Amino acid sequence: MTNDSPDQRWFHLCTTDDLALPNAFVTTRVGAVPLVAQNIKGRVVAFRNVCTHRFAVIHGEPAGCGPLRCPYHGWSFDADGVPVGLPFNPTDFQLEAEGRRRLALHPASLARCGRLVFVRVAMDGPSLEEDLGHDLFARLAALSDAFPRPGTPVEPTEAWERIEAANLRAHLAPAASSTPPALVLHSMAPPGADPRFSRTITLYPATTDAERPA
Ligand code: FES
Repeated sequence: MTNDSPDQRWFHLCTTDDLALPNAFVTTRVGAVPLVAQNIKGRVVAFRNVCTHRFAVIHGEPAGCGPLRCPYHGWSFDADGVPVGLPFNPTDFQLEAEGRRRLALHPASLARCGRLVFVRVAMDGPSLEEDLGHDLFARLAALSDAFPRPGTPVEPTEAWERIEAANLRAHLAPAASSTPPALVLHSMAPPGADPRFSRTITLYPATTDAERPA
């Protein structure tokens, strides 16, 4: 596996707001690997979105709110990926604690840049900040903190500043114009993923007179 492999690359997934509620989840796919980031009892974690029983996809929707529970035989998983709820375990599976631990979900990497959430298939590799570079990482973090409020979608024009990072295109409304301050985030679906895994969101400052970062 080389550093050019999609498995080794960070991909922007969503914002922290999307994962703020217990059981909130967001999914994507990198090549053949489905991924899920999920809030489990307040912990936000990332796994391969594949059940370790018979390899069914756990969450089929791009985003939603519901427990990390496989739709096939109902195994549910905790924040460490360990199956903790196994219907009919005494008769059908007979899995004790050690057996359950061996069937934990495969973890994936998860990192935050300000309020932006990124995922990577590989567990090892450069940090998100190393990958993006310190300046770009700091700029995106500051922008995401300055534009926390989702609102009415707008279409960026050529006059907007465009910032590229991984699969993310951030468009920032020009400061010296009549355009209201806004930040449009467009996350392209990773390689091999269905277009339904692309996401676009328009964000606004918390207050209309808030200062934007340089
Ligand atoms: S395939 Fe997931 S519980 Fe059986």
